[in-house]
Amino acid sequence: MTFDKETRRKGTGSLKWDENPDIEYPLWVADMDFEVAPSIKEALEQRVQHGIFGYAIPTNSFYESVIRWHQRRHHVTYWREWMIVVPGVVPAISSILRALTIPGDGVLTLSPVYNCFFSSIRNLQCRAEESVLRLVGDTYMIDFDDLEHRSEKEDTKVLLLCSPHNPSGRIWTKEELQCIGDICLKNNVFVVSDEIHCELVMPGNEFMSYASLGDTYMQEACICTSASKSFNMAGLQNAQIICPNEEYRKRIDRAVNIHEVCDVNPFGIVATEAAYNKGEEWIEELCQYIWRNYKDAREYIEREIPQLKVIKLEGTYLMWVDIRTLAVSDEAFCEGLRQKESVWLAEGSHYGKGGEGFIRINLATQHENVMIALMKLKHYIESL
Ligand SMILES: Cc1ncc(COP(=O)(O)O)c(C=O)c1O
Repeated sequence: MTFDKETRRKGTGSLKWDENPDIEYPLWVADMDFEVAPSIKEALEQRVQHGIFGYAIPTNSFYESVIRWHQRRHHVTYWREWMIVVPGVVPAISSILRALTIPGDGVLTLSPVYNCFFSSIRNLQCRAEESVLRLVGDTYMIDFDDLEHRSEKEDTKVLLLCSPHNPSGRIWTKEELQCIGDICLKNNVFVVSDEIHCELVMPGNEFMSYASLGDTYMQEACICTSASKSFNMAGLQNAQIICPNEEYRKRIDRAVNIHEVCDVNPFGIVATEAAYNKGEEWIEELCQYIWRNYKDAREYIEREIPQLKVIKLEGTYLMWVDIRTLAVSDEAFCEGLRQKESVWLAEGSHYGKGGEGFIRINLATQHENVMIALMKLKHYIESL
């Protein structure tokens, strides 16, 4: 299988591999150790051959590829006029908060959640209103009473929804999305659905976009999406905000301009188009590969390190593991693991309330790397 091919990333200016070049197994940041789909590489090579790399704008064929992909894969219809093209989902979220909040406002999250949500909230001088997910068995559930209570607060303006959810691995069902939507509509809370992980769906699960709730809900919401996470091209910096409501869209567009994140990278445009036009088979294979990594990792942990508890993976390539029986903080644990075993995992407490005592393992690497990292994890735990 192509994903087994060893890739060497050290010395390429990779955040994952070169931030701390002494680490042998960096399984932290959400970036994959796989070469992109051949169609993406070919499209980029062709673009390089052109040899001119001036300021770019999204092309007609780019917009068409995004629209067609979401229609075919996720059964949602987007229009070109609804789209704002930006260099990333994080700048998108930051701009949206700038457009829709004032300092001191509450921004809802379902915590633990993607850590950059908190930096955007902080940077805009807003308050994180964290509704903590409940762990039921090996699955996280939303506490809807708590979410409703927090939405009712006068100054709660926005919900940052992570869908699929990083780091819990949940894919929200249509019923859950409907409940979220009803609570937010009732309380005038604008929903920002970050769907960057939407192609990373494990067998037996189905991704539902927030947009599938329909126009009433989407008039008070927007989707942030990108091919970058699932096709492994985050460095090419291309993402889209999809906002059907014209008034909100104008405000967001203005904030995108004030933030100076309105320029696009010509390689990001070309690569996204190639991914969406020709990458479907590659994504299917990728999800199978990640699923195998997850199954084998889970089985290994349950057999060899039964003190840990692996959370169910429905989507993303990020395995969330409960280490609370070990009587050590996740931060101290990860620091020790880095120093003693040269394995770098993400500390759960970086993901807000409810993340303490958990670790996140990036499974998007060669199967062999995952298994060696787990053996090292076991060795480290034995030494505690
Ligand atoms: C939920 C989520 N949103 C956004 C991002 C980053 O998006 P971008 O690189 O487009 O800013 C990540 C990266 O891990 C993520 O997990």
